[in-house]
Amino acid sequence: MILKGRRGKYQIVKKIAEGGFSKVYLAKSRDGMVVVKTPKSEVPLSFEIIREEASILKAISTPKPHENIVAFIDWVPSYPALVQEYVPGPQLDKVYARRRARKEEAIRIVLGVLSALNRMHSLGVVHGDVKPNNIMMPKPLVPVLIDMGSAKRAGSESLAGTPGWSSPEFMEGQVSVEADIYSVGVLLLYLLSGIDPVEPLTPEDVPSTIPDQVSEVIRRALNPNPWKRFHSVKEMEMALMGLKIPRQEGPRLIAGGRVILLEGRDRLIIARSRTQGGTGRADVELYEFGGKRLIPRGPPYEWIEVVKVGGEYWISDKGSPAGVWIFRGEWKRVVDYPLRHGDLVSIGIRRRAGRLYPYAPLRYLSY
Ligand SMILES: Nc1ncnc2c1ncn2[C@@H]1O[C@H](COP(=O)(O)OP(=O)(O)OP(=O)(O)O)[C@@H](O)[C@H]1O
Ligand SMILES: [Mg+2]
Repeated sequence: MILKGRRGKYQIVKKIAEGGFSKVYLAKSRDGMVVVKTPKSEVPLSFEIIREEASILKAISTPKPHENIVAFIDWVPSYPALVQEYVPGPQLDKVYARRRARKEEAIRIVLGVLSALNRMHSLGVVHGDVKPNNIMMPKPLVPVLIDMGSAKRAGSESLAGTPGWSSPEFMEGQVSVEADIYSVGVLLLYLLSGIDPVEPLTPEDVPSTIPDQVSEVIRRALNPNPWKRFHSVKEMEMALMGLKIPRQEGPRLIAGGRVILLEGRDRLIIARSRTQGGTGRADVELYEFGGKRLIPRGPPYEWIEVVKVGGEYWISDKGSPAGVWIFRGEWKRVVDYPLRHGDLVSIGIRRRAGRLYPYAPLRYLSY
C-alpha cells in the first residue's frame, strides 16, 4: 500500500504498534524509513486526535526539529495519516527493564527530556503523556520524545492520561506545565528505583535509597498540589544540576521557556519577536506558536506592558492587534489587569472548533 503525501510517497512495510486511538506503521520513503500513524476508523474522535497531534508536532518541529523530539515529516489528509521520522532504537522501558540507572545517567536522560519539554512549553504546549514507552533511546543517554497524542495547549482540557504517570489534576482534565513536571518526577524515580506506578504517587513514596539532592527534586515534582511543584522546566533543570533556585523565586514571568525576574523592575515591555514583525523596542521578544507570525501585524508600538503598581504587577495592553487575554477558568480579554500567581497570559487568541487557544503564552508567578 502506498500513501501519497505532500512531500513524497510512503510505502507501508509493516504494522509496529496499535494503541487505543491509532495504528502505527513502518514505511519506506524516498529518503529512508518513516513512521506512519493513522486513526482507528472505528474509534470516535480518533481522526480529530491525530489531526491535532499532527498540527502540534508540525508546529514544534518548525522551523527546525528538536534533537529530543521526533520530527514531523508530512500529513496525508486523504488517508489520513501523520508521517514522522523513524527513531531507531529501543524504548526507554526496554533499556531499563532489568537494570536501574546510575544517578548521573538518570540525570542526563531527564535533562534531555526536559530540553524537549522546554521547546514544547515555550510554544504553549504540554506533552501530557511523558512515560517510558513514549521515549525512544536511539543512542545511550539520548532520549527522543514521541507520541504527541495527548499533547494539548496549556489552559485547555485534557482527554486522556496514564494512571500513575499523569498528575492527579491532569487526570481530572486540567492541562498545565506542572503536569509534565510531575511525570518527569515519576520518570526520574523510575530510572533510579524501577518503580512503575499505576496509582498516583506522593512525595512520601520516594524511598530513602534515592540520593538526597535527586530525592528532593523528585519530591518537589510529585507534590499533589501543582502550585508546590517546579513551575518551569528551567527551574527543575537548575535544581537537578545542583544549582540553587532561589534566584528564580519571587515575582517572575516565564516566556518562551525563559524566566524573567521582575524584582527591581517597575516596567517591562513584551512584544513579538522582531523577525516576526515586532518593532525591536521590547525588553522581551516572544516567538509565536511554531515560529510563524500568526497574529496580524499591528501598529508599530508596544504590545504588553507589565508595570508595578503599589505592591502588585499589572498587565496592560499597549496596542496588541489581537488583544491581551488572561486564563481564569476561561480566556477573557483584558486591557489593564492585576496579575495573580499562576496566571496564564496570551497575546491574541485563536478560535478553533468553538474553543479558544493561546498564541504566545506567558505565565506570571509571584513566589
Ligand atoms: N517515530 C517513531 N519511531 C520509532 N518507533 C515509533 C515511532 N513512533 C511510534 N513508535 C512506536 O510505536 C508505538 C506506539 O506509538 P505512539 O506512542 O505514538 O502511539 P499510541 O497510539 O499513543 O500508542 P500507545 O497507546 O501505546 O501509547 C511506540 O511506543 C513506539 O514503539
Ligand atoms: Mg504512546
